[in-house]
Amino acid sequence: MQDLDKILSNYKGEKSDLIPLLQDIQSEYGYLSEELMREVSKFTGVPESEIYGVATFYTQFRFNPKGKKHIAVCSGTACHVTGAQQIIEGMERHLDIKDGETTPDGEYSLESVGCLGCCALAPAAMVDDEIKSKLSLRSIKKLFRGYNPEKPSK
Ligand code: FES
Repeated sequence: MQDLDKILSNYKGEKSDLIPLLQDIQSEYGYLSEELMREVSKFTGVPESEIYGVATFYTQFRFNPKGKKHIAVCSGTACHVTGAQQIIEGMERHLDIKDGETTPDGEYSLESVGCLGCCALAPAAMVDDEIKSKLSLRSIKKLFRGYNPEKPSK
């Protein structure tokens, strides 16, 4: 936790430090683990449950590590009206995880996000750095072809 000590040394441990502190920790570790939340609680004196409550309010925070492939499905207005919800649900079914989770084999993580800035391509998602446009349940099937969440791929 040497990196954490370095991050904490930039703060006074006040309650008002919470959001920027969590942002720094997430940018270093990629997500907020239970252990990290415990350390933040010790440092700030804010109960873990309260920190968790604050962090879950902001969609920017993750509580699971990202998968090898990270899928960000747009839930902005243009994507919403063109079926983003069905796309997210379809992906949840294919991967057998919920929005915000990572498959147990660490292959995929899924999260719904705000506008990706390519509304003409709605409904859209970003797989790692690549935009997937005009998604449909059929194209999702193609995206996960060969992937079976029960049998971890090698
Ligand atoms: S609303 Fe989805 S890309 Fe803008």
